[in-house]
Amino acid sequence: MNKLLGLTRNFSSSTSLNAVKTVTIIGGGLMGSGIAQVAAQAGQNVTLVDLKPELLDKAQQSIQKNLIRVGKKMYKDDTLKAENFVKDSLNRIKVSTNIEDGVNVDLIIEAIVEKLHIKQDLFNKLDQLAPEHTILATNTSSISINEIGAGIKRKDRYGGLHFFNPVPVMRLLEVIKGDHISDSTYQTMMEWGKSIGKTCITCKDTPGFVVNRLLGPYSAEAIRMYERGDASKEDIDIGMKLGAGYPMGPFELADYTGLDTNKFVLEVMYEKTKDPVFRPIPLIDKMVAEGKLGIKTGEGFYKYKK
Ligand code: NAI
Repeated sequence: MNKLLGLTRNFSSSTSLNAVKTVTIIGGGLMGSGIAQVAAQAGQNVTLVDLKPELLDKAQQSIQKNLIRVGKKMYKDDTLKAENFVKDSLNRIKVSTNIEDGVNVDLIIEAIVEKLHIKQDLFNKLDQLAPEHTILATNTSSISINEIGAGIKRKDRYGGLHFFNPVPVMRLLEVIKGDHISDSTYQTMMEWGKSIGKTCITCKDTPGFVVNRLLGPYSAEAIRMYERGDASKEDIDIGMKLGAGYPMGPFELADYTGLDTNKFVLEVMYEKTKDPVFRPIPLIDKMVAEGKLGIKTGEGFYKYKK
């Protein structure tokens, strides 16, 4: 029994040694600003890096707006507590356009543009600049994490942390294991995810990981069903909400995600898997060419007030 307690203590002390206290997010767009927000909300010191000061201003404004909403929900009638929550969380986020200001941390998460070579260049640079113990992670949704990290030396301290949009709302975090990740890095990533309030699942470095691999064929088949005239888009949406308990139907989800993103994901998945389930869908191609991208352009499968 004592032996067991000893083992447990050793395990917890060794994992707490790896606890992430400081984190840098590179890329302050939709995803990066959300990741910075949830980390700061959880009490971590965050550095947010982007290319231009105006992009960082925009990120800070969006984070502040979201924190005010979260603060109101958390503290209901206690305005002072809610205000302090917003102020304290914002104070934990430093911003910079210089990557070197963000390298001296425990964890660096990349959330920049989804282009392999740009990501590879960034990781090669981070690998050279960051201290030994720093873990590097990518938030890529469609590129192989092994390919992104191909040029780095610290392959044991590298993995994927795949968040979902909107980051402050979606509770899932996919922790992606690259081919060379160490157990200690993997455990640290899982613990960090939990510490910022996410439920973590693990997946190997495979196209689409868990959620997008399953959502892709589902969404594609819904659109083909509508294209064939089997059922109306409204009925398919109602069917999946009331019959399968999904919070949104596939057409509502496609409009929310953006049809350009849907098209891009299908193309990438088809290229990687050659599985005909991901073959191009003429209706999506036509809608994207017409600029009907969903909520962001005011029209997709449905029309929206701008
Ligand atoms: P975004 O376009 O909103 O933001 C990207 C940001 O990165 C921009 O502010 C841009 O200025 C900045 N950036 C580009 N190159 C940079 C560099 N070299 N150094 C510093 N900053 C740089 O893109 P979004 O949607 O936030 O996506 C970012 C990543 O997250 C992509 O890899 C994407 O695949 C992934 N992702 C996106 C999801 C989504 O629903 N949008 C969901 C999950 C992952």
